Parts: sequence; C-alpha cells; structure tokens
Amino acid sequence: MYELKDDYLTGIELIDKEHKKLFEIAEEAYQVLHNDYIADKYDNMVDILAQLKEYTIMHFEHEEQYMESIGYKKIFSQKVQHQEFIEKLEVVDLNEVDENPEEAIQDILTFLTDWLFNHILHMDKQIGK
Ligand SMILES: [Fe+2]
Ligand SMILES: [Fe+2]
Repeated sequence: MYELKDDYLTGIELIDKEHKKLFEIAEEAYQVLHNDYIADKYDNMVDILAQLKEYTIMHFEHEEQYMESIGYKKIFSQKVQHQEFIEKLEVVDLNEVDENPEEAIQDILTFLTDWLFNHILHMDKQIGK
C-alpha cells in the first residue's frame, strides 16, 4: 500500500533514507490493520503508531539540521509545518478509538500518511533546489 516511489526522492541521501523508513512503518501499520490473523491487533497498532510518531519527530530534527547546514531559505515554512504536524500527532489518542476500532485506526493512518507524503512531495523535494 505504502511505498517510497521515485517521485518522492529528494536526492539527499539521509533524507531519502528516513523517508523510506516512514513509508515502511506506514506499510507495517497497514499490513497489521488488514491482517485478520493477528489476535492483539489493537496493541500492535498502538505500538506501530507510537513508532511512527517517534520516528517522524526525529526525522524532522534531522531534516531541519540539514536545511540549516546548507542555509536553505525556506527553512522557516518547513519548521512551521513540522511543528503543526507534531501538534496533530500529539492529539492522536487511540484510547478514544472504541466503537469501530479498525475504521478509526485506518482513518488515523490515512490522515497521517496523507500529510506526510504530501509534505515530502511538495516541501521536502524542494530542499536544496
Ligand atoms: Fe521529510
Ligand atoms: Fe519536511
């Protein structure tokens, strides 16, 4: 479902490597969510989404360090977007997922991946250009 295609490549090795990992975590979440043979699916999803959150925050730090190192002019708008997304991540609360957990978790996953992959395509790809 989620895979880092060439369209998403920035040409910056460290950034591409971390973006690839973000896609991999998203893919793992998708696979777990849609695998009917996993008994403790919910706990698994909580773990994977926590991992996605943690990795995203670390990635933003690295990306911002890189932008600083090359004196990238649009670093400010990048930082604003990163910060806004971190705030959104903070309010994602899986404990509120009750009625239809699978659908709710899929919605959360879709929301996070839409944002992340759009950001890569429209913002990160401009870094260094
Ligand atoms: Fe990025
Ligand atoms: Fe970014």
